[in-house]
Amino acid sequence: MCGIVAYVGRKNAQSLLLEGLKRLEYRGYDSAGICVNHDHQLLVRRAVGRISVLEAALENVDRLPAGHIGMAHTRWATHGAPTECNAHPHTDDKRRVALVHNGIIENYAPLKKFLQEKGHTFSSQTDTEVLAMLVGHFYKGDLAKAVQEALNEARGTYGIAVMAADQPETMVVARRGSPLIIGVGKDEYIVASDAAAIVEHTTQVIYLNDNEMAVITPGGFKTMTIDDVPVNKEVTEVEFSLEQIELGNYPHFMLKEIFEQPHAIENCLAGRLDLQEGRVVLGGIANMARELVRARRIIITACGTAWHAGLIGEFLLEELAKIPTEVEYASEFRYRNPIIEDGTIAVAISQSGETADTLAALREAKDRGAISLGIINVVGSTIARETDAGIYLHVGPEIGVASTKAFCGQIVVETLLALFIARRKYMSQAVLNEFLNALTRIPQQMQRVLEQSDSIKNVVGKFVHRENWLFLGRGVNYPVALEGALKLKEISYIHAEGLPAAEMKHGPIALISAGMPAVFVATRGSQYEKLLGNIQEVKARGGKIIAVATEGDDHIRDVADHVFFVPEIIEPLQPLLTVLPLQLLAYHAAVARGCNVDKPRNLAKSVTVE
Ligand code: G6P
Repeated sequence: MCGIVAYVGRKNAQSLLLEGLKRLEYRGYDSAGICVNHDHQLLVRRAVGRISVLEAALENVDRLPAGHIGMAHTRWATHGAPTECNAHPHTDDKRRVALVHNGIIENYAPLKKFLQEKGHTFSSQTDTEVLAMLVGHFYKGDLAKAVQEALNEARGTYGIAVMAADQPETMVVARRGSPLIIGVGKDEYIVASDAAAIVEHTTQVIYLNDNEMAVITPGGFKTMTIDDVPVNKEVTEVEFSLEQIELGNYPHFMLKEIFEQPHAIENCLAGRLDLQEGRVVLGGIANMARELVRARRIIITACGTAWHAGLIGEFLLEELAKIPTEVEYASEFRYRNPIIEDGTIAVAISQSGETADTLAALREAKDRGAISLGIINVVGSTIARETDAGIYLHVGPEIGVASTKAFCGQIVVETLLALFIARRKYMSQAVLNEFLNALTRIPQQMQRVLEQSDSIKNVVGKFVHRENWLFLGRGVNYPVALEGALKLKEISYIHAEGLPAAEMKHGPIALISAGMPAVFVATRGSQYEKLLGNIQEVKARGGKIIAVATEGDDHIRDVADHVFFVPEIIEPLQPLLTVLPLQLLAYHAAVARGCNVDKPRNLAKSVTVE
């Protein structure tokens, strides 16, 4: 979604800002822009489309003179179409201030009316221009004060950076509900909405909290609340390095991240399995063990892929820890007047830790008295900081918009959480040991599944022209079917439905026509026989069967048209292996159809608006 990069220092800002924007490209956007202060003038250049379009314009037709302070933005359209005049940065009508903004100003309409009545004229349809105009309206030489006055009038969410033409050394940044990180270099600061734009320059960062702002000059910075109460902020170290966010030898981040999974899961498990003592070690929730053991209900809230992981979590927490668990779409939960009883634990699952709906659902649950827990990948993200306790995924930065390694990391963490509670309740040491041993084998088993990438590509080639697919599974593999369908939709734009296999006969079976591909997660387990029955139902109607099955299952070869195999593993852990062929299937389908795998249309990596 929208991205912000801003620079205050001694270097020429332009190339640094453009490089920063490219690091944020993965988040999804439709236009981009840049502004530098040169000779007390705010010079803005904007373009629709990729950052390369903006860059080409800057090189050829629209050169910018040097400036040592500047800001840049990638916009994902909300208010107003993706056009040049709606792109950020925005200025006030007298060009005294410029501003970039992530988030949504909800009361932009009355504010715009107020400003129009004061004689201001607007050139875009955006809520952001209203905020820029408001800062300009209040600006009388003290930029921080003008920003505070404007933000006191604004309702909604924002991460903003603001500069003034007549203050070529000062940048003011502020946040409410949309992340902002200040990278601290030597005599320079790089502000960004995502650490990926910062790590090339410094790993020392400050995370602004909601309702906080900073006034930054090359010589230093001050932090305060938006109500002007000074706050002291700690400088912390970002966890990841530049190599982790670069492609290496892979053609796409998605493929890199699929193949990284064995290693990512090793990292996720590192230090958490004590095989000698036979226990699960989870430092982040150690202080909460009592509450977890006594929990009467767990509510998981999440969106997208994380929601699918939540469904697997429901299975694991009920099966292993014996705690009634429900999984909620965060966007629904937040508006539903949910009932939170004593002993409820709210678990927010999110790769980014910034998804607006998940954050709002978490706050709702906390306000109603739930104890909160986060299962998050991005260290220091908003949700991670707002939960009472949490478990990080530690799978490294995920750049591909279609989530892959974070999904497996989420399942592993849910398994660890369920085992942590289960052993303190009913689970025997012998059963726990069985799980611990199975978990240690996962990375190597994943490797074996990934070796089938080429044969998956060949099979996909036969079906890639089909516009409708089904993905079916049962039990713990039903959410895997949902995830397989979502992956295919997201990056290849093929229509796919994921379903619990038994539900098919209640409606979707009507869709099946000759040659329609139906992907079954058909591994051996408690519902294997029933699933074979579901396969026959599709076959009888002319559907083509692509199965994910257990190694050594010869019978499935007779039933299915194509089979991908995964090694044998205890049933609750099967999703960690069965999802891999589906990720590869979606990837190869998208490449075969010429789609932009890492930048799928209309999607954003981290959805920070409602
Ligand atoms: C977006 C992404 C999905 C992701 C979802 C939740 O919609 O496109 O891939 O699953 O957000 O993201 P989160 O960061 O909360 O896991």
